[in-house]
Amino acid sequence: KQVGRVRLTGTKYACGRGGCGACTVMVSKRDPTSQEIRHFSVTTCLVPICSLYGAAVTTVEGVGSMKTRLHPVQERIAKSHGTQCGFCTPGMVMSMYTLLRNHPQPSEEQLLEALGGNLCRCTGYRPILASGKTFCLVSRGLRGHPQSKNDGDRRSKLFVKEEFQPLDPTQELIFPPELLRMTENPEKRTLTFHGERVTWISPGTFKDLLELKAKHPEAPLILGNTSLGPAMRSKGCLHPILLSPARISELNVVSKTNDGLTIGAGCSLAQVKDILAERVSELPEEKTQTYRALLKHLKSLASQQIRNMASLGGHIISRHSYSDLNPILAVGNATLNLTSEGTRRIPLSEHFLAGLASADLKPEEILESVYIPHSQKWEFVSAFRQAQCQQNALPDVNAGMRVLFKEGTDIIEDLSITYGGVGAATVSAHKSCQQLLGRQWDELMLDEACRRLLDEVSLPGWAPGGRVEFKRTLVVSFFFKFYLQVLQELKKLIKPFPVPVSALAFMGSWQHKLPPSSVDSHQPLQDPVGRPVMHLSGLKHATGEAEFCDDIPMVDKELCMALVTSTRAYAKIISIDLSEALEIPGVVDVITAKDIPGTNGTEDDKLLAVDEVLCVGQIIFAVVAETDVQAKRAIEKIKITYEELEPIIFTIKDAIKHNSFLCPEKKLEQGNIEEAFEKVDQIVEGEVHVGGQEHFYMETQRVLVIPKTEDKELDIYVSTQDPAHVQKTVSSTLNIPINRITCHVKRVGGGFGGKIGRPAVFGAIAAVGALKTGHPIRLVLDREDDMLITGGRHPLFGKYKVGFMNNGRIKALDIECFINGGCTLDDSELVTEFLILKLENAYKIRNLRFRGRACLTNLPSNTAFRGFGFPQGTLVTESCITAVAAKCGLPPEKVREKNMYRTVDKTIYKQAFNPESLIRCWNECLDASSFHNRRKQVEEFNKKNYWKKRGIAVIPMKFSVGFAATSYHQAAALVHIYTDGSVLVTHGGNELGQGIHTKMLQVASRELKIPMSHLHICETSTAMVPNTIATAASVGADINGKAVQNACQILLKRLEPIIKKNPEGTWEEWIEAAFEQRISLSATGYFRGYKAFMDWEKGEGDPFPYYVYGAACSEVEIDCLTGAHKKIRTDIVMDACCSLNPAIDIGQIEGAFIQGMGLYTTEELKYSPEGVLYSRGPDEYKIPTISDVPEEFNVSLLPSSQTPLTIYSSKGLGESGMFLGSSVFFAITDAVAAARKERDIAEDFTVKSPATPEWVRMACADRFTEMVYICPLPLEPPSHPTPWAIFK
Ligand SMILES: Cc1cc2nc3c(=O)[nH]c(=O)nc-3n(C[C@H](O)[C@H](O)[C@H](O)COP(=O)(O)OP(=O)(O)OC[C@H]3O[C@@H](n4cnc5c(N)ncnc54)[C@H](O)[C@@H]3O)c2cc1C
Ligand code: FES
Ligand code: FES
Repeated sequence: KQVGRVRLTGTKYACGRGGCGACTVMVSKRDPTSQEIRHFSVTTCLVPICSLYGAAVTTVEGVGSMKTRLHPVQERIAKSHGTQCGFCTPGMVMSMYTLLRNHPQPSEEQLLEALGGNLCRCTGYRPILASGKTFCLVSRGLRGHPQSKNDGDRRSKLFVKEEFQPLDPTQELIFPPELLRMTENPEKRTLTFHGERVTWISPGTFKDLLELKAKHPEAPLILGNTSLGPAMRSKGCLHPILLSPARISELNVVSKTNDGLTIGAGCSLAQVKDILAERVSELPEEKTQTYRALLKHLKSLASQQIRNMASLGGHIISRHSYSDLNPILAVGNATLNLTSEGTRRIPLSEHFLAGLASADLKPEEILESVYIPHSQKWEFVSAFRQAQCQQNALPDVNAGMRVLFKEGTDIIEDLSITYGGVGAATVSAHKSCQQLLGRQWDELMLDEACRRLLDEVSLPGWAPGGRVEFKRTLVVSFFFKFYLQVLQELKKLIKPFPVPVSALAFMGSWQHKLPPSSVDSHQPLQDPVGRPVMHLSGLKHATGEAEFCDDIPMVDKELCMALVTSTRAYAKIISIDLSEALEIPGVVDVITAKDIPGTNGTEDDKLLAVDEVLCVGQIIFAVVAETDVQAKRAIEKIKITYEELEPIIFTIKDAIKHNSFLCPEKKLEQGNIEEAFEKVDQIVEGEVHVGGQEHFYMETQRVLVIPKTEDKELDIYVSTQDPAHVQKTVSSTLNIPINRITCHVKRVGGGFGGKIGRPAVFGAIAAVGALKTGHPIRLVLDREDDMLITGGRHPLFGKYKVGFMNNGRIKALDIECFINGGCTLDDSELVTEFLILKLENAYKIRNLRFRGRACLTNLPSNTAFRGFGFPQGTLVTESCITAVAAKCGLPPEKVREKNMYRTVDKTIYKQAFNPESLIRCWNECLDASSFHNRRKQVEEFNKKNYWKKRGIAVIPMKFSVGFAATSYHQAAALVHIYTDGSVLVTHGGNELGQGIHTKMLQVASRELKIPMSHLHICETSTAMVPNTIATAASVGADINGKAVQNACQILLKRLEPIIKKNPEGTWEEWIEAAFEQRISLSATGYFRGYKAFMDWEKGEGDPFPYYVYGAACSEVEIDCLTGAHKKIRTDIVMDACCSLNPAIDIGQIEGAFIQGMGLYTTEELKYSPEGVLYSRGPDEYKIPTISDVPEEFNVSLLPSSQTPLTIYSSKGLGESGMFLGSSVFFAITDAVAAARKERDIAEDFTVKSPATPEWVRMACADRFTEMVYICPLPLEPPSHPTPWAIFK
């Protein structure tokens, strides 16, 4: 926010918790001891400005710009197509830039580590890594493997590496000389900075620090602020005095002795990692057991940025129950060196970790350093952790384990085990360890140890956050892993045998196969259609110059708005007390439903609640203040009393029980299902649960409303996929005609369906504020509010009954789906319709019945999300296939093939359908992935490995594109040619990152036969192109492209006589002549699109203009003991017809695939029993990170038959890739099935998405899960119902 004030808007704000990396900048400091300058990346949202005293900060603007010179990092990320919406790009650039400042030729491992803390919701990361890899020391080509056949052909490459400017480290910014002088002559005085509510004191000497701590014992020491900061921000902790020891070199001292290592408490975790790595390289292996265990966790603890900021002392003293280092330090017998008036040493013991006063620091004491002893021969230390995903995720459970044997034997002399994540603090299994002393390291000991551990580390069934069985299973599974590891080591020591060469660290390998026909050799060079043209804003994204809604400079008299939301799921509002809030300085007004001059939404879906609330997070009113901080402070002071109403319904099952639905059932049926069930060999029935999904666009919802002085006009700058809807809603809310309101959308930082309906609500509320106060209003949701207020993808519960022959042929399929719509209708009826229409996927089953209903519950209303029901519903269909295959003893791909459409036929809604391209995609995918060979290899692997299993799955896809309503198949464009020959194109689509503007200019360039450099798009504006439809349903480029084409053709027709007269003339000459001859140089293009219809009574129609086909094959490996998985390889074949821009289309496929993979594997919404969303940020809600990208990821575009309905026979690929992410899900379930088969447990199981580590671990049932079920849990107190997730 500070950099925002100095108009350095490149640094973005997307979570405020250090969890997304959008705000990354580089900090440079000179080390007072070594005099070296250290460059490190930090997340600015957690950096207090006072901590930067003496430091140089480089933001993305300092790295390079379009106006001066682009830095190679910026150039390469853009030209490698590593930016889509561009909101994450400055953060990515800064992480990569900092890496290059320290390592101009980094290793691939360093690159992955540097980018591990930067989230991107659009690209799927592959192109970002590809750009980074161009700097790496050993670059293995774009694929990582031997050069592809296409590599020599420039036309078929997405970018040409050889054209990039080289990195020249001598050209980098120097450390400011005035700061150098400061470190040469360091300030010893205590510096004090006074804020409004907080005083920051930074002493210059250790003595002063101790005195200040004695004077202010309650004041915390502030180091990295990664623990204090989030607590102050979201938990409302206020510390009036903060003591900063940043200038105290005594806290950074490192000393090596013969028996151990002492590390200063002020050292950052990144420094600790380097120190430990150095020590490990210097000492014999037996002495570095603890150090290596710490190093293992330091690689996965948080992100590079957080490790750069967080200090060892802060980490230890914070004593988070999830702490990754404290369990290892505790078992490694670390001690804490404390200083106040004197010094003393205390062990980092179980009692210290539990916060017992007798074992803790005194208020005036400071942790000066930490002593970590060497390990010894016959001693083994290991660390374990399991999180929702591998990188940048807090652990569910972690552990440190140490055992010491009597020399030369396997008799336990000493044992210590400590767990994190299983209680309020790190806990030690001290009793169990004591009881195992003197025992041999064998199976008997293992069994007893597990029982004792389960008994001692007892998580109650009502433990906060739930997952109790999973966590208890991990408690014993980790110990079993430790047992096996130590056994290996003992074997080496007692009876030597060769050490297996550990597998080399492996990173990314990719291939793209473009259709050979994407650009034909006769196409003029100037014609950009079909070429991998870079995103128009790519370079601006990379330099931070691309302006998003909240980057618009503050306007005169602007005020900020914050929203007050319900804390109850279903209740009557009894009273509201605003008095204290209105007294807060800077607070201007409170906007309630009474202030709305027009309509307050609809009867069932109000903009601002009146009398009653229907879910937690429903907006009740809004506070307007001079600053956002004041507005938020006021919110804390508002008192609302409620009276709970009943029944409160959260889950689908409860909704069914209470007959609580939003709309009537949607049904499609064909054949005679009852009769067919009677004639089949077998029938299987099952259930499928698919959890919801948060859009997690990187740019949260935001709007700026500027009232004009005349005629009630309003200018609205808004991040939306549907500005016309915002305009209409504001008009009805304010009761002013639509023509007074202009909505502007320059670019949107990701939408995915989440910015179709909701922006209108925020726009309308802000507009009411603007009207009432007469001031411009800026409303920017922070991540927590965005996640709390806006709904996402509908969770789904599906029941199926499938009848089939023993050869796998399905004869009858009956599926009933329920989706959780939340508290208002929104798009739920449409989603239900789409779900039912698309449920058959690629299969022709003669007797079918599909039914669907949307449930009315007390949750925020769920809404559109990429794929619109297809990704959830089709998981049910594919699960049926897997279940049939299991019953028939056939591989699932055989059953898929057997039931797939084979010839020209009709779909369930009786639309004609030719499956030729579908079959081609399927066959190509089998071929490209060497599926059958790899299936055999997977089986071989599984035979040899009991605790690890591999799975492989190939999934076909038939995805219908477009809206099922005719009025949505239209678009308009406006093209102006100016007298200098430059052309301004405007159309009805919004730039969400999907590259629509780039594609539109490609179209205009081809039609007008002029280079793209003559063309420009400024923004989408309701004043330029009216009555637009939402940019959604994958058809944005299809329909707007046709409109742009139409406008250009009209213009060209007008120019024809002039061109004919002077065929050798230039464009500029023709335009000049046209102007002279009074020929209009402006034209509106219009496209009257597809006539979609669907008759639900008859169950027939032509709802969709065309289909996108695809197939994906994924292979994974699961760890049966922890539930973790790694993605070995994915091959995707998509039928893109004639791609307008293969780089953009591949980006869409990859981005959607990775988003789909998140839906099916890691993204889990967690709610409290009272319906409060727990997962309100990147720390709780895990979208895929860079390390989740499959190790090998190949995408091929299949050239296909022409599609006359779309522009140049291209296809809309925005959504379809999402479902292909399910190939990872089915590969996981394939691996789980293999584990279950080997363990002799039923192969079929209830399918649950996401397939989280918890689900995988518990599905791979074994002796350890059995122990957990046998060992009794404390009884559940009635006041604490079991925590749960919404899909149940
Ligand atoms: C996005 C994110 C992801 C994270 N992921 C993980 C993870 O995966 N695993 C994990 O274990 N942790 C994780 N953490 C937690 C992180 O490790 C801790 O927040 C961090 O180590 C705290 O260090 P700090 O220097 O920032 O502490 P600060 O916030 O500066 O201070 C924390 C506390 O320590 C006290 N303190 C600090 N130094 C001293 C001293 N020398 N003497 C006495 N008291 C002192 C302060 O008074 C204060 O109360 C994550 C944090 C974030 C923000
Ligand atoms: S905004 Fe700082 S890390 Fe997300
Ligand atoms: S491009 Fe990365 S979040 Fe959009």
